[in-house]
Amino acid sequence: MNDSKVIVALDYADASSALSLVNQLDPSLCKLKVGKELFTAAGPQLIEKLTSKNFQIFLDLKFHDIPNTVAKACEAASNLGVWMLNVHASGGKTMMQAALEGVDKSKHSPYLIAVTVLTSMSQANLDEIGIENSIENQVLKLAQLTQLAGLHGVVCSALEAQLLRKQLAQDFLLITPGIRPATASKDDQTRILTPTQALAAGASYLVVGRPITQANRPIEALIAINEEIQSIN
Ligand code: C5P
Repeated sequence: MNDSKVIVALDYADASSALSLVNQLDPSLCKLKVGKELFTAAGPQLIEKLTSKNFQIFLDLKFHDIPNTVAKACEAASNLGVWMLNVHASGGKTMMQAALEGVDKSKHSPYLIAVTVLTSMSQANLDEIGIENSIENQVLKLAQLTQLAGLHGVVCSALEAQLLRKQLAQDFLLITPGIRPATASKDDQTRILTPTQALAAGASYLVVGRPITQANRPIEALIAINEEIQSIN
């Protein structure tokens, strides 16, 4: 397919807005992320449309439920032919192993990754739900549990990638949002790294939204990021 490390976040409310951006991109230069808002509005039909255009899709639905339900949801998502999907690591090892069994029942074999601690959670938010660990220790604990369950990787802040890369297997995937090329606006992100810094810290793939989707020429913004990345290889 393609070896691009850039996953473009399709943060849109409906299929037609998403497709008008996608039609300006090239499936050999990026992958696409479809999250809860767009999938709830546009459903499997949009995924089929995107895969028929040869795009690889990260279906970012962050499943978290009883093991049997998550297994079935992961099987159904895998049957859509997506490249990657995810669950919440805080659902526990049994739930993650069930998710993997669901994925394995499908003829497609997407990557299954987990979310550790959402970057929107503060230390106070963790205290509220009875977690006494520091955010950093909780992220590491859940990433290690994800690896133990046999999943392929985790979503993490680019700033956490360096610590996780040291503690986890070399082939364990680290998918990092919060990426901003040096020249781009920070938008509402606060803890950001450039594409080059994130890869140097150990990231496997970069989730990039507005620096591409809001650019005057999205394809040029994407090409510039790919070139920046290639120049360090
Ligand atoms: O536009 P921007 O590059 O900030 O978009 C980043 C994407 O990554 C969005 O889809 C956002 O929801 C997602 N994300 C994030 N931080 C996380 C997890 C996901 O920004 N910790």
